[in-house]
Amino acid sequence: MLIKYLDLTAQYRKIQSQAEPVILDILKSGNYCLGEYVASFENDFAAYCDTKFCVTCNSGTSALHMALLAAGIKEGDEVITTTSTFVATVAAIRLVKATPVLLDISLKTLNLSTDSIEPHINHKTKAVIAVHLHGNPCEIDEINRICRKYNLILIEDAAQAHGSTFKGVKIGSVGDMACFSFYPGKNLGACGEGGAVITNNSFYAEKLRMIRDWGCEKKYIHLYEGYNYRMDAIQGALLGIKLQYLEEWTELRIQKAELYKKSLAKKPLRLTQVLPEARHVYHVFAVMTEFRDELKKYLYQHGIETGIHYPVPVHKQPIFSGVCKSSNNMSNSETACGQLLSLPIYPELDDNKIIYIADVINEFYIRT
Ligand SMILES: Cc1ncc(COP(=O)(O)O)c(C=O)c1O
Repeated sequence: MLIKYLDLTAQYRKIQSQAEPVILDILKSGNYCLGEYVASFENDFAAYCDTKFCVTCNSGTSALHMALLAAGIKEGDEVITTTSTFVATVAAIRLVKATPVLLDISLKTLNLSTDSIEPHINHKTKAVIAVHLHGNPCEIDEINRICRKYNLILIEDAAQAHGSTFKGVKIGSVGDMACFSFYPGKNLGACGEGGAVITNNSFYAEKLRMIRDWGCEKKYIHLYEGYNYRMDAIQGALLGIKLQYLEEWTELRIQKAELYKKSLAKKPLRLTQVLPEARHVYHVFAVMTEFRDELKKYLYQHGIETGIHYPVPVHKQPIFSGVCKSSNNMSNSETACGQLLSLPIYPELDDNKIIYIADVINEFYIRT
């Protein structure tokens, strides 16, 4: 038996009969960039997130870049974020030539430790990027309070957190802007690349729309620094179809996570803590153990693929050496990177396979 870390073909089978006629229609229409399907998905996704505006683009990285540009972040400014994230969060800050200020995490939630934010704020600090790692909401209310106190822009990196909530409020609607990735493996994934920024602020929405299309106010009149970050019509259409299933798929992810928790309860593994006010949407189901590498190998020998999100914290990435500031103590992030292991989780993953994975983990601990 091989249990894949992710099986996107299973998801495709669910939408195949709806997707294929629409793709053919688009191919015949000759309208391949932006257009009605993208506009319709933007309306639906804004409604799903309980925000006024959604501006799609061609990746989560572009979404972060656009949000920073819309917020006017530039060279000489500092942007605070977590070191435990995918590299794109920090790369986007460098795209606007600002200085990333990388902070440590809480080992319980794996998200930004809110206590460390205020001591790192100075006159150059202009924004905070709050990441909801693995789909587990960070303490967004507290981060928002700090941002309001110091007049900082709050951008949420919700690339892994479609549909998660904090105190019943959808992630992405608390900050000034929130950025999503629709990379195929995400909880809401395109069949190619895609991203979006959502906001309740009409000024930002307007600016974002221009930035994704060469800063155009109208054809050939360029008002802002912009890029070709437009979304393809086919991706907009497919995302619109998949959005209809997102809640069903999210509930299934949560059920699978609960089954893992129950089946792994007695094992000496550390599980990520979910804040009582939060809905974790389990883009990643992570466990922590000092025997991570041995366990990963053992699971692989038993036909189980796993992942590591992420093996190296951003402050240790060679590309960022000398261009980021970071707090002196990054021990929690370093521990997490050495111990995290991501187990397979997706809506179509059979419950029996989860029980099998838990049994193999149990066997590993009996043998070691
Ligand atoms: C937290 C986070 N931010 C940003 C991104 C970038 O998204 P994309 O790959 O669509 O550019 C990702 C993608 O994995 C991510 O996980």
